[in-house]
Amino acid sequence: MTHGGSSPCFVRSSLKSSVTPQGEWNLTYLETIVASVVGQKIIWCFCPFAVEFLYCDLASLKSIQQFVQKFKKKKIPLHVLVNNAGVMMVPQRKTRDGFEEHFGLNYLGHFLLTNLLLDTMKESGSPGRSARVLTVSSATHYIGELNMDDLQGSRCYSPHSAYAQSKLALVLFTYHLQRLLAAQGSPVTANVVDPGVVNTDLYRHVFWGTRLMKKLFGWWLFKTPDEGAWTSVYAAVTPDLEGIGGRYLYNEKETKSLAVTYDLDLQRELWARSCQMTGITDVTQDTFSG
Ligand SMILES: NC(=O)c1ccc[n+]([C@@H]2O[C@H](COP(=O)([O-])OP(=O)(O)OC[C@H]3O[C@@H](n4cnc5c(N)ncnc54)[C@H](OP(=O)(O)O)[C@@H]3O)[C@@H](O)[C@H]2O)c1
Repeated sequence: MTHGGSSPCFVRSSLKSSVTPQGEWNLTYLETIVASVVGQKIIWCFCPFAVEFLYCDLASLKSIQQFVQKFKKKKIPLHVLVNNAGVMMVPQRKTRDGFEEHFGLNYLGHFLLTNLLLDTMKESGSPGRSARVLTVSSATHYIGELNMDDLQGSRCYSPHSAYAQSKLALVLFTYHLQRLLAAQGSPVTANVVDPGVVNTDLYRHVFWGTRLMKKLFGWWLFKTPDEGAWTSVYAAVTPDLEGIGGRYLYNEKETKSLAVTYDLDLQRELWARSCQMTGITDVTQDTFSG
């Protein structure tokens, strides 16, 4: 698929979607389905001849586990996973499992989802046609700080810092995941996507002045949702990234993320803590010591 050949509906859909196995795309069919589902907590499963919607609440570890169980029962391959869902600058509140919402939903939800789907992705990828994990972060990660002593922001909550921290954590997670996959020789890659500033509902919790500015000038200053989706689509399908992971992509080009994201010890520490919090086994030690 080339950019010129992609339909706007499909592009919009990709920003909203979470799971898209590659196949022979029937864009006309997909457009119809895609247009009807925007705004629901669903994960989209596209097959060459069918589209199915499965519910998944990323603010609930149980819901993620149930989604993965249902998905695996279908015994279909998974070639592209887009970790796209998110909330921004919400008031201090918790996920069903008691995690601060930005950290729990934006970061831990995708951390668990990806880990539980990795075996399927490893089976689905092959040399020369790797399966791809794309994780949507944000330029906000550049001002983020990872507070390992208080990841839940319970001592001093700032919605802005909490959002930035969750987006920073996603970059660290992706780089560590890529190192893990490469060390295991898996036919799966992991990259980060930064969509830019996009005119979407993400801004519903920001300061009213910013909302007003977005309403008045958003059409001029912000990317449209279609434009914001381009880098995700690019990362999902471009042959240029075959077998290549651990990249931070903005406007379809590789760029550097915040220096601290390349700190291997921090990546490892965050990964280990995330395994504890989500109750999954940490295979990092075995992989890197073996
Ligand atoms: N817009 C920007 O300027 C911008 C800039 C940088 C990065 N990003 C990133 O781009 C991604 C997409 O954001 P967007 O701009 O498209 O915002 P959006 O329009 O608000 O979309 C966010 C999506 O996340 C879903 N979601 C929220 N809570 C969920 C949950 N508990 N379980 C499952 N799905 C949930 C929402 O579903 P519901 O509608 O059903 O709640 C919605 O489809 C986010 O990761 C965001 O951080 C956006």
